[in-house]
Amino acid sequence: MIAPALMNRVTELCKEHGATLEKNAPLARFTSAGVGGAVPAVASPTRADSVAALVSDLRGEGLEVRPLGNGTNLLVDDEGGPWVVLRLGGMSGPMTRDGQRVTAPAGMSLPFLVRETVKAGLRGLEHAEGIPGTVGGSTFGNAGCYGGDMGHVVRRIRLLRDGRDTWIEVESDDFGYRCSPVLDGDVILSVELELAEDEVEAIRRDKAGYRRKRLESQPIGRRSAGCVFKNPEGESAGRLIDLAGLKGSRIGGAAVSEVHANFLINEGNATTRDFLNLIERIQDTVQDRFDVDLETEIQIWFASPEGGES
Ligand code: EPU
Repeated sequence: MIAPALMNRVTELCKEHGATLEKNAPLARFTSAGVGGAVPAVASPTRADSVAALVSDLRGEGLEVRPLGNGTNLLVDDEGGPWVVLRLGGMSGPMTRDGQRVTAPAGMSLPFLVRETVKAGLRGLEHAEGIPGTVGGSTFGNAGCYGGDMGHVVRRIRLLRDGRDTWIEVESDDFGYRCSPVLDGDVILSVELELAEDEVEAIRRDKAGYRRKRLESQPIGRRSAGCVFKNPEGESAGRLIDLAGLKGSRIGGAAVSEVHANFLINEGNATTRDFLNLIERIQDTVQDRFDVDLETEIQIWFASPEGGES
């Protein structure tokens, strides 16, 4: 899907900028749902200071570069796609602190950042330990739960915009429901958050409470892409899907979780097509039963624009 001469150039550029390269790599390996076809190249940068140059050189060759965190809120077409996937989830570094502000690299796992901030006596992320994404991915998707989301605490973002490595200031209004319109098309490099000081033990207690709730109500440890649908205004998508009798409903290897109906589980041999067909069945059923149009909140990467939105 990328011509051999151009692939040679991708190899050269990865070497030059210290990124490891996997050719013809199935994205099923890099997504929590465990589905998705192969892409010609997955580039995993190892040095934060060379990501800007790598992306700008790849884009300069006319290639489409798609950033990937831990792939925890993503379905990828069974056909893969013609992209160079920039895998930031493997690249981490330390959290730094200045008073109530902390800065974390985009590739850091969010649960790790939650633990570090709680240890440091900083409140604001204690609800988020169970969100399995990266700091960059969860900022892009404005991940949230239990009334909090990333937009509430993220104040500055270092990103690549129009080929430039730059910082932007953001506030909660720049984020939407599981989205960040202000970041469209940018590659996030690091994120600065403003938290509040408190007693470590008090924050730990709250964190443990959220963890308990999550363990009781969500299918932790199963292969899924997290909540699939946005909650309609004043309603829970999971509750509607459950009321429609769809828990346990399956297509191929994909099934509606028995624990929380907004989670679709890969039972072992699911394809992305199975997930998409099950999503459609749920949307049709909920529309018929409750006259509610369920919208997806996960990212879906289609191989070609005709496949749908990406
Ligand atoms: N419910 C059911 N059946 C189900 C699932 C839920 O009856 O299968 C009921 C629950 O009993 C409860 C109500 O629906 O009365 C709400 O359920 P829950 O507290 O689990 O919250 P939710 O609205 O379904 C949202 C977020 C989750 C987040 C939780 C906790 C969305 C789409 N979902 O779920 O976020 O973890 O609240 O704050 O916003 C995600 O975005 O990936 C995600 C999982």
